Amino acid sequence: MTEPSADTWTARILTLFPEMFPGPLGQSLAGKALEKGIWRLETMDIRGFATDRHRTVDDTPFGGGAGMVMRPDVVDAALEAATADGLKPAIYLTPRGRLLKQELVQELAAGPGLVVLCGRYEGLDERVIEARGLLEVSLGDFVLSGGEPAALALIDACVRLLPGVMGAEATLAEESFNTGLLEYPHYTRPAEWSGRSVPEVLMSGHHEKIRRWRQEQAEETTRLRRPDLWDAYRKRKA
Ligand SMILES: C[S@@+](CC[C@H](N)C(=O)[O-])C[C@H]1O[C@@H](n2cnc3c(N)ncnc32)[C@H](O)[C@@H]1O
Repeated sequence: MTEPSADTWTARILTLFPEMFPGPLGQSLAGKALEKGIWRLETMDIRGFATDRHRTVDDTPFGGGAGMVMRPDVVDAALEAATADGLKPAIYLTPRGRLLKQELVQELAAGPGLVVLCGRYEGLDERVIEARGLLEVSLGDFVLSGGEPAALALIDACVRLLPGVMGAEATLAEESFNTGLLEYPHYTRPAEWSGRSVPEVLMSGHHEKIRRWRQEQAEETTRLRRPDLWDAYRKRKA
């Protein structure tokens, strides 16, 4: 781990597989921003905090059952080191957590960064989650084999909101979820493709008509695909 910096957004990842990082975060927008020093990525190998000869990080579950559980003493020591300079929040990625939404991504991007703990096996001993007051976050109602792909997704979503990462900040304002709606559909050249043409209004050059069409499309798509978002949007507008 390198020296902590007070003003650079930092993702500090606790993992049993540090070689999975930066992975996709080293490419494209996030990768360029990483190179430019707009954000920092630090990995800490949880296994380095095991104390026995075999560097054991897991054990069998009390009460029986399949699989292994990550030991609280080892994970706690890793968290102690990861949070020593005050970086927070400390997040545990788990299907049992609060569903990740753009609001939380925005909150995290506006802060100093995050410490993110990637689970493996059946997950983490509950006592360390309680003792450390970890913020439990889920990527969705499905089960990954480890927290690393979830950490990559969470960090990617945060990094693209950092100032200077995306070229046109205006595109962020119109994206899905920012307005409370899903985004309108996009089209580019060629204007005719495979017997399908681009909606005429988009070729009109009439900015107000285009704006209105996009708004209608965003509303209709949200109403049809995500009644939950649509209800919340209408309540806010009422
Ligand atoms: C095989 S999973 C454990 C699943 C756990 N036994 C359960 O049923 O909830 C191993 C690790 O993957 C990560 N993981 C799996 N699915 C996830 C999701 N939907 N969101 C965030 N992390 C997830 C967690 O860190 C978890 O500890």
